[in-house]
Amino acid sequence: MTGPESEEPQLRRAVCPGSFDPITNGHLDIIARASRLYDVVHVTVMINQAKKGLFSVDERIDLIRRATAEYGNVQVESFHGLLVDFCKQRDIPAIVKGLRAVSDFDYELQMAQMNNGLSGIETLFIPTSPTYSFLSSSLVKEVAAWGGDVSHLVPPFVLEELTKRLGTE
Ligand code: PNS
Repeated sequence: MTGPESEEPQLRRAVCPGSFDPITNGHLDIIARASRLYDVVHVTVMINQAKKGLFSVDERIDLIRRATAEYGNVQVESFHGLLVDFCKQRDIPAIVKGLRAVSDFDYELQMAQMNNGLSGIETLFIPTSPTYSFLSSSLVKEVAAWGGDVSHLVPPFVLEELTKRLGTE
């Protein structure tokens, strides 16, 4: 068959990139909402060798896979390089980012404009749920390191790994 009827429908793909050291309920809020908007959501741990993480890249991937297991259209992997190159390799036209507060906006806008200038890729911002507007992996690690309660901010198995790693069991 020729013509438009013969063409496979194009899957709508987006990427949710980040450090995810570790994944929090704030990340999950954005991933869950992106998974309702796109056919396939690539959750990608971007490797930054200058930044020593608490968790290794493989550990982060494992935690993200467990946290997103209920979403059938989420693919988790890592990438070393520019985000736009990851997108080009997989034919992904959109980056989805959560915006927690106006303070996020300046830097996110710069990255969105740079990525668009480099490759034409679009960035879509989803406003974070107010429940998580203060939440970041760094704050979770800091509070947990001092024995503070972060059980409402991360999935239970992330909490378990966090307390093991920080020695705050
Ligand atoms: O969770 P983070 O650390 O806020 O995520 C930032 C991240 C990883 C999305 C950003 O630093 C990134 O895209 N890094 C990949 C390298 C790259 O493409 N840099 C140019 C950005 S304009």
